[in-house]
Amino acid sequence: MATRPIVIYGDPVLREKAEPVKEINRDIKELVADMIATIQDANGLGLAAPQVGVSKRIFIADLSALDLAESIRVFINPEILESTGEVVLEEGCLSFPGIYQKISRPEKVKIRATDIEGNLFEMETSGMMARAILHEFDHLEGKLFIDYLSSISRALMKGKLKKLSAAS
Ligand code: NI
Repeated sequence: MATRPIVIYGDPVLREKAEPVKEINRDIKELVADMIATIQDANGLGLAAPQVGVSKRIFIADLSALDLAESIRVFINPEILESTGEVVLEEGCLSFPGIYQKISRPEKVKIRATDIEGNLFEMETSGMMARAILHEFDHLEGKLFIDYLSSISRALMKGKLKKLSAAS
């Protein structure tokens, strides 16, 4: 288990549609273990495989810092079954260090995914977990949180984004 470098905005891997995981083999288990080490090191709430440069349909969510009852959850080949409501929350992303923006997304989500043991599970959730799931799921589609901003907010951030992508 080792941390991997987090890919920063500007890297083309963040715009790719990630490939489904065919088999949970040793490589995938190692990738997930490394993603867990990476998110803990970065104090993140969520991390998708493309953010460590691997275009595979895997993400993790770790809300244990906000809720002691929570532990790290692994989502492999996730499918969003349903999303309802709407809520505005401030969001950040490990691939956009220092950038936080208020984003509107569905309030509740129902998701189906495979866990690291290969078991299919379904989960219905709201609040920060729903937010993390929707944000991370987008990463697997090559979609980023800045895509939801109004053209005005994006224009205001242009300089910051340019700096990020120039450094990546
Ligand atoms: Ni992100």
